Amino acid sequence: LEQQQPYLPSFHFRPPQNWLNDPNGPMWYNGMYHLFYQYNPEGPLFGDKMVWAHSVSRDMIHWVDLDLALTPTEPFDMKSCWSGSITIVPGNIPMILYTGIDSNGVQVQNLAFPKNLSDPFLEQWEKSTRNPIMTPPQGVPGDFFRDPTTAWRDPGPDGKWNVIVGGLIKNEGMAILYQSEDFVSWTKAEHPLYSSPGTGMWECPDFFPVSLNSSNGVDTSVVDPSVKHVLKISSFSNVHDYYVLGSYAPKTSKYVPGNEYTGSSTDLRYDYGKFYASKTFFDQPKSRRILWGWANESDTMEDDLAKGWAGVQAIPREIWLHSSGKQLVQWPVEELNKLRGQHVQVLDEKLHSGSVFEVEGITASQADIEIEFELHSLEESAEVFDTTGTDPQQLCSDSNASVKGGVGPFGLLALATKELTEHTAIFFRIFKGSNGFVVLMCSDQRKSSLRDGLDKTPYGAFLEIDPQHEKIALRTLIDHSIVESFGGGGKTCISSRVYPKLAINSEARLFVFNNGTVDVAISSLNAWSMNTAQKNRPTQSYALL
Ligand code: FRU
Repeated sequence: LEQQQPYLPSFHFRPPQNWLNDPNGPMWYNGMYHLFYQYNPEGPLFGDKMVWAHSVSRDMIHWVDLDLALTPTEPFDMKSCWSGSITIVPGNIPMILYTGIDSNGVQVQNLAFPKNLSDPFLEQWEKSTRNPIMTPPQGVPGDFFRDPTTAWRDPGPDGKWNVIVGGLIKNEGMAILYQSEDFVSWTKAEHPLYSSPGTGMWECPDFFPVSLNSSNGVDTSVVDPSVKHVLKISSFSNVHDYYVLGSYAPKTSKYVPGNEYTGSSTDLRYDYGKFYASKTFFDQPKSRRILWGWANESDTMEDDLAKGWAGVQAIPREIWLHSSGKQLVQWPVEELNKLRGQHVQVLDEKLHSGSVFEVEGITASQADIEIEFELHSLEESAEVFDTTGTDPQQLCSDSNASVKGGVGPFGLLALATKELTEHTAIFFRIFKGSNGFVVLMCSDQRKSSLRDGLDKTPYGAFLEIDPQHEKIALRTLIDHSIVESFGGGGKTCISSRVYPKLAINSEARLFVFNNGTVDVAISSLNAWSMNTAQKNRPTQSYALL
């Protein structure tokens, strides 16, 4: 199978076959993690009868696939069961809110709940007879009203429920706010929670508090002076997940973001590569907030038909507010480390200007790498360049890994052939700006494959660190056709989907390089071969749980 399917991820979540997109309703419930997701049971392309597929896990790494949870059956979801979320309501009942495409093709919001709460897998779901519980409000077109969030409850014993739904009016993207006393009858609030003109449709919004002084997560309904609120928007126009950080006042239902979302290249994003329609949940036993996101494809529909599958979930990430209060940080869940196998280490090694060396001794097509670079003489060698207002992705696109700079480019060449004819380059460049040093992080896919017809867009973002006093840390997860990179301990994340022609399976190699004018030092490099996560049908493997 490995030979026939060299691009199948081995430790990333994916269905056994067919099309996957958005994560839906992730939760921890009675000792188990649940992941639902948009799935086309009919084939490897997006379909006109989308369903909620369902899997469970003890650790978010090894999974058991269950029966489909929601399929089109009723007038209110006859043409598809689209994205949505889960809220655990008092009585410990998980409630699904999801978008149905009704028999007229109109997007409506529906409610579903477990048929049998004592089934540890919550395999069967029942749709409310009150559906649809929300229909497109005045001014919102019937095909731009979707993706309800996890609901949050206002403080106090009689606090009302709040939920947002993505929508738009005249190209003004918005998070439409609904409120309810009983979770079944919902009334639209006078104002959206937030909106921004000219930004197009907002899909899959997410709204949650983050702690101001701890990396621990908090429950979605927490609102007090110890938190800020994150609003995440999936932009239908440019297929990226953006976020704003602000304060939320439950009394007035007002949300005031500190930064605006305008759809420009300087807006904050979760990930600067392929990562979309993401969703978080609060993992209560481990007091952390977990982020799931869809790493969409870079190959063609013809390729997807040939390989029989499309789409993969990025590694679940812990997400929290950086101590600066200015941005979020993400890091692969610690459970992933259990898959680490064969290990190699390099300590205190000079990476001379112009040098490339191979990291040998691991399976380079299925690996986890952590590396720390140390820089000297920045003052003398960094190129003077005012990056203010410059689009970082454009900067990465202007010069690839082989374009010599002052400090950098240095970094990794993943999924590379021996002669480097194919490689995905993840690297850094340091500039001297008008306001101190600027660190640019790039993930360049342009040489990722000798094949044509793939999306090889190079990605880039700035990394907010002080390179004079901090080392430059990079962690990269490589899993056949997905490369996920975390710069600066998770301050800048870039994921990519790549389809090398030759650098597959045991032919894939991993290199470290420095094409800058000055030497840099690798203070440490740790690389592991990754084992394959277990993925089973329930009959074989309920025992696994
Ligand atoms: C985002 C999205 C959602 C929709 C779902 C359909 O990728 O378009 O807005 O609910 O996918 O699968």
